[in-house]
Amino acid sequence: MKKSIKKYVPAENRYADMKYNRCGRSGLKLPAISLGLWHNFGGVDDFENCRKMLKRAFDLGITHFDLANNYGPPAGSAEINFGKILKKDFAGYRDELVISTKAGYYMWPGPYGEWGSRKYILASLEQSLKRMGIDHVDIFYHHRPDPDTPLEESMSALEQAVRQGKAIYAGVSNYRSQQMGFAAKMLKSLGVPCLIHQPSYSMFNRWVEEDGLLDVLDAQGIGCIVFSPLAQGMLTDKYLKGIPEGSRASKAGTFLKKDNVTEEKVAKARALNEIAKARGQTLAQMALAWVMRRKTVTSALIGASSVKQVEDCVACTKNLEFSKEELEGIEKILK
Ligand SMILES: NC(=O)c1ccc[n+]([C@@H]2O[C@H](COP(=O)([O-])OP(=O)(O)OC[C@H]3O[C@@H](n4cnc5c(N)ncnc54)[C@H](OP(=O)(O)O)[C@@H]3O)[C@@H](O)[C@H]2O)c1
Repeated sequence: MKKSIKKYVPAENRYADMKYNRCGRSGLKLPAISLGLWHNFGGVDDFENCRKMLKRAFDLGITHFDLANNYGPPAGSAEINFGKILKKDFAGYRDELVISTKAGYYMWPGPYGEWGSRKYILASLEQSLKRMGIDHVDIFYHHRPDPDTPLEESMSALEQAVRQGKAIYAGVSNYRSQQMGFAAKMLKSLGVPCLIHQPSYSMFNRWVEEDGLLDVLDAQGIGCIVFSPLAQGMLTDKYLKGIPEGSRASKAGTFLKKDNVTEEKVAKARALNEIAKARGQTLAQMALAWVMRRKTVTSALIGASSVKQVEDCVACTKNLEFSKEELEGIEKILK
């Protein structure tokens, strides 16, 4: 007899508790917490765990899933896995999802497999759509600025993707404030305004404040989704007592090296953890609330390796306010 497989039915109350923020001055709202598939969703990872995390995220009101051509490993496999899960579990819910992908990093050999030429960007989007089995993404990003390709060319490739109906909105990632100003102007003049910027931002990484990027985005009415708000796990309780087996820092080939988990960072995390406890939050929850204290930040883009982490992060929305004393205490530790 054939085993009957229970079909996923999303939680009925999935929109009850999540906060949805307007993305800049656009019509699109994004969940305060979005889920990225950079790590733990690749071909080398446990497929059923990927499925569980995506389903639980959606049940908790996370409507936005962030991908890129190169996520895996191997590169491309996160999009393939996501496409399979879309088909298996989310068929019928496509219009409740905001799916993004990006092009910019190395994907294939030769002169057309990375950076910012029109040839690369448009070919990459085509490949991403094929891997995910969808006909459009909601947001298509240029993943990193290309120092050698005229900005006009990269921006007009994004415009073309939108005009072709293969992307609904255009965005950029890792652009500094000055380049962002130029990019925003160009996209506006092409009739496809930049929806969103995706920079890194956390208590341990504040370049967007120093560079003035947040001010530029604010002035231009462009949304901001910040990646690695937990400093890849360092702003959680994960490394407070050493580097646990299976954690990102313990694995070879990730962007968080053992050496990045310094005694200085861990000492700061321990002190921050005390403030979080006094707020009745986990350190992860406080780190997420902290990036969202800036009104320019539309969404905090987390990564996760388990359902429990997704649940813990989403619960940050229960307390997003900080007292003056708490903010001062945090500054003192971060100095
Ligand atoms: N545009 C870009 O250039 C760029 C670059 C990087 C990332 N991104 C995007 O941003 C997303 C997030 O990046 P990220 O994964 O570095 O973000 P992150 O949220 O700073 O770090 C995620 C890691 O933190 C740990 N974690 C998460 N929640 C936790 C919790 N509640 N308690 C304890 N530990 C917890 C997990 O580590 P373990 O895996 O060790 O359990 C998880 O993998 C990516 O998936 C991608 O979509 C974009």
